[in-house]
Amino acid sequence: MTPSANGRLRPVIAIDGPAGAGKSTLAAHLARRFGLLNLETGAMYRALALKALETSTELGDEAALARLAESTQIALESSPNESNRVLLDGKDVTTRIREKDVSEAASQVSVHPRVRAWMVERQRAMGAQGGVVMEGRDIGTKVFPDAELKIFLDAHDEIRGQRRYLQSAGSTNAPTAEAVLAAVRDRDTRDRNRATSPLEPAADAIHLDTTGLTLEQVYTLAEDLVQAKIPG
Ligand code: DC
Repeated sequence: MTPSANGRLRPVIAIDGPAGAGKSTLAAHLARRFGLLNLETGAMYRALALKALETSTELGDEAALARLAESTQIALESSPNESNRVLLDGKDVTTRIREKDVSEAASQVSVHPRVRAWMVERQRAMGAQGGVVMEGRDIGTKVFPDAELKIFLDAHDEIRGQRRYLQSAGSTNAPTAEAVLAAVRDRDTRDRNRATSPLEPAADAIHLDTTGLTLEQVYTLAEDLVQAKIPG
């Protein structure tokens, strides 16, 4: 196999889109199906946000957060047949970072250019060899503008809110459907309007609106797109 112009033997698949669009589910599926590493960049922002909460670092203090990041180790463990694990300074925080306080804090932490620069540098290193599905908000625009495939996954906000609600329903202290929708809209507004790397599709991204589609339909559409990028 000869490397492509960017020096990678295997492709980088970028999946961006708003909260609740189904990025993580799709990324996990594609990773399993094609034997790719699944790197969920939101988990990195969440892990740093958790550390900020634990160390009482002010979420609006960019310099303090940048310093905090410099003394932080975040590892994404990805294996095709198991759920991914997220390690913060060696400790498994996979479940904790999904909680509401961390979701909110992650969105706040991610507005800061210096925090983003720290994240992007690490994400580029993680995906440099290719063979990855990388999922987030700025993968196709900033982290890998030369990704072999860019998918922008979206869905109507009420559908995204409902999906998020169903994920948490049944657990203790599960929020109401209205509260989940409000939180999704809140995060959307912040993610789309921040000055640095706002959530927006790359010019060459393929838009996939999943509003009226079943999961199987989304999988099939995305598999066809990825298949076209796998050499051989
Ligand atoms: O994908 P997620 O919901 O786990 O992401 C958590 C927060 O991190 C989200 O509010 C936006 C931010 N984020 C980002 O700004 N850039 C990324 N590449 C990934 C996530």
